Amino acid sequence: MTSAAHRIAAERRSARTQALEDRPVNLDGFVEEWPEAGMVALDSAFDPEPSVRVADGAIVEMDGRTRAEFDFIDQFIADHAIDVASTEQSMAIPAADVARMLVDPGVTRDEVLSVTRGLTPAKLLEVAKAMNIVEIMMGMQKMRARRTPANQAHCTSARDNPLQVVCEAAEAAIRGFSEVETTLGVVRYAPLVAMALLIGSQAGDGGPLTQCALEEATELELGMRGITGYAETISVYGTEPVFVDGDDTPWSKAFLAAAYASRGIKMRFTSGTGSEVQMGNAQGRSMLYLEIRCIMIAKGAGVQGLQNGSISCIGVPGAVPAGIRAVAAENMIASALDLECASGNDQSFSHSPMRRTARLMPQLMPGTDFVCSGYSATPNYDNMFAGSNVDAEDFDDFNTLQRDFQVDGGLRHVKEADILAVRHHAAKALQAVFRYLDLAPITDDEIDAAVYAHGSNELIPRDVLEDIKSAQQVMDRKITGLDIVKALESTGFSTIADHILTVLRQRVSGDMLQTSAILTRDLLPLSAINDRNDYAGPGTGYRPSGARWEEMKKLRHVTSAANPEEEVD
Ligand code: 5AD
Ligand code: CA
Repeated sequence: MTSAAHRIAAERRSARTQALEDRPVNLDGFVEEWPEAGMVALDSAFDPEPSVRVADGAIVEMDGRTRAEFDFIDQFIADHAIDVASTEQSMAIPAADVARMLVDPGVTRDEVLSVTRGLTPAKLLEVAKAMNIVEIMMGMQKMRARRTPANQAHCTSARDNPLQVVCEAAEAAIRGFSEVETTLGVVRYAPLVAMALLIGSQAGDGGPLTQCALEEATELELGMRGITGYAETISVYGTEPVFVDGDDTPWSKAFLAAAYASRGIKMRFTSGTGSEVQMGNAQGRSMLYLEIRCIMIAKGAGVQGLQNGSISCIGVPGAVPAGIRAVAAENMIASALDLECASGNDQSFSHSPMRRTARLMPQLMPGTDFVCSGYSATPNYDNMFAGSNVDAEDFDDFNTLQRDFQVDGGLRHVKEADILAVRHHAAKALQAVFRYLDLAPITDDEIDAAVYAHGSNELIPRDVLEDIKSAQQVMDRKITGLDIVKALESTGFSTIADHILTVLRQRVSGDMLQTSAILTRDLLPLSAINDRNDYAGPGTGYRPSGARWEEMKKLRHVTSAANPEEEVD
């Protein structure tokens, strides 16, 4: 530009620039790549080159490091996550060819798995780098474990109000979520809120598994008592110093995983790009390289699945070039290693409605085991996981996207009368259980407010001290899932009692430990065993059809063809 042109630019802004400046996307944070600090999505000169060497049945060199140079993550991966017998053969296949296998519908899922089980972290990174976003989605479509996609919700309350949570869980269940989870503002409230989540989840048809994200010991105890049905926030990290910061190692996490498995409790690990940068110790590696190490820790620990897709760190990859592509790639790699993938789309990351919809596409379009690993079933101000990419105000939009593209994100439109009925039924059940177990009372006025509320602002405040005392009682008296079943049965809520008993029974059967297990509305297990993804190109694999597609066509307002003056019911 000439200096005169510069002067013009400095003195006066155009109305166009002002309009763009005012767009929500410009409230988002964007940074330049800084590979030395790990602020790079997946393409860094500091990532290792792929290599492997086997001697005497053990991996003695991996990705340029000898066994003596391994950190504990390398060691865990080399010893537990890579198939030693096939690794040299798999590593000899060029990365671009493996990428091609992931995309090519003529190559079966099993054929891909026979190769990926022998790949090192740096090699899997090379594979991901060869794939553009559409190819990553193609890979996900074929590699996700369960044939039928599903979804997971956050049911929380800014006031930790159990009555709100019982209503939200009941609504989330009939809207179609297969897992519902909660967490707390005040941790001591947890037993009451976890009970509410369980009762709400089974108040309608058979329903979703439940989780209460807490400090690890309490979470395990609630699971062992049968008050929760799955665990997920068992965090793993891609560098040794960040792992040690949490007083953990891959071995301690594997031990915890075994504790859950010993009681038939479904569990998965959590990881995601950006956590190591956020915790200040990325050791100059790219976000995706470190995340692939996490995925392989999950694989090596023998857990059936992983919640990944950056999760609570989404602002970090979201700020760098190709970051959201890397997030889609981490989901696909989890699936390509035969793990269940609960694929993020949880924590909110952008002010831009367009950007947050786009961020959903790489998981919603191909389908994943859980498209959102935390869709906020409440308005975002009630989301105690810090807000979600999609929340209760987006239900109609989400249902419309499913219908527009004929893709299954696990949800459906439900009539208001049905929602109010199930919220009311769930709230009355919680009231009865609290009364039966001699816990803090719930009044009919509170129930009325909770059934019709959008969020906690419209609720009648609880006596928090009384509630905390009751919560302590639940722990001290060692109340279990069976006690809740008994209370429901004794107070006339025998259908809910029956559902919860069935959930507990399924746990004893061990079926919830199968990869990607959920319970259908008939409370039957659906997993990668009896609902194996069989995608093999056009006309194959899961396609919404029959009753499910009819259900997906329903929206709040659809004009009747027979009578254009009317809307269909
Ligand atoms: N890496 C590891 N753990 C994570 N969590 C969320 N994001 C990540 C990540 N990128 C876990 C944390 C958090 C919970 C919601 O999930 O434990 O508390
Ligand atoms: Ca989650």
